Amino acid sequence: MSGFFVVFEGGDGVGKTTQIDRLATHLRAAGRDITVTREPGGTDLGVELRQAIMHGGHVAPRAEALLYAADRAHHIATKVRPALEAGGVVIQDRYIDSSVVYQGGARGLGDEVERISRWATEDLVPHLTVVLDMEPHAERLDRDLDRVERETAEHQHLIRQAFLDRAALEPARYAVIDAARSIDEVAADVTAAVAESMAAAGLPPVPAEPVGLEPWGTP
Ligand code: TYD
Repeated sequence: MSGFFVVFEGGDGVGKTTQIDRLATHLRAAGRDITVTREPGGTDLGVELRQAIMHGGHVAPRAEALLYAADRAHHIATKVRPALEAGGVVIQDRYIDSSVVYQGGARGLGDEVERISRWATEDLVPHLTVVLDMEPHAERLDRDLDRVERETAEHQHLIRQAFLDRAALEPARYAVIDAARSIDEVAADVTAAVAESMAAAGLPPVPAEPVGLEPWGTP
């Protein structure tokens, strides 16, 4: 496979969308063929599966895990692999780690969740997973919280730690980036991590992200 597959992971509200947009703009300007996509919902079928997952009522945890896996199987087979085989760069919002962290960890379904996703994707492993890391609502645990607020805050801490634990298992394939900084600072670190990983994969070099400037404005 001649392309490059980079995934963004992290808790809710860490700025994935903004950083994905920045990276895509940067790499497009550098002449790369870019596909930006996401799970769940990166294909037409995926949009329907996403609606099924998020329909508002109760979804049994195993059914939910299988809906994410079904979305992933179709997405990887019909969109991501073809783009990679054509030599493109795929920038993806969430992948298997989200299932491991949210369904496997938070919902208590364990290691089987990862096995199901690996089967679903025929073991497609990203070249790089960028974990955008941020203390979730740091100040909130210090305040008086009602039970629901406290549970939500504690849940977010568990999610954050689970992503960090995944990254620590395979440091060469992960970049943990402090997302509690300016958009420019985070983008510069993301570009550097992607450039390093692309070079390791034998792809042509990528220019650095200009910090503090509009990326492609005239000087
Ligand atoms: P989304 O609206 O895309 O939000 P975000 O900007 O946080 O990515 O919703 C994705 C939600 O789906 C997010 O809360 C995490 C969850 N999710 C899982 O629980 N398992 C998965 O495998 C994936 C891909 C997402």
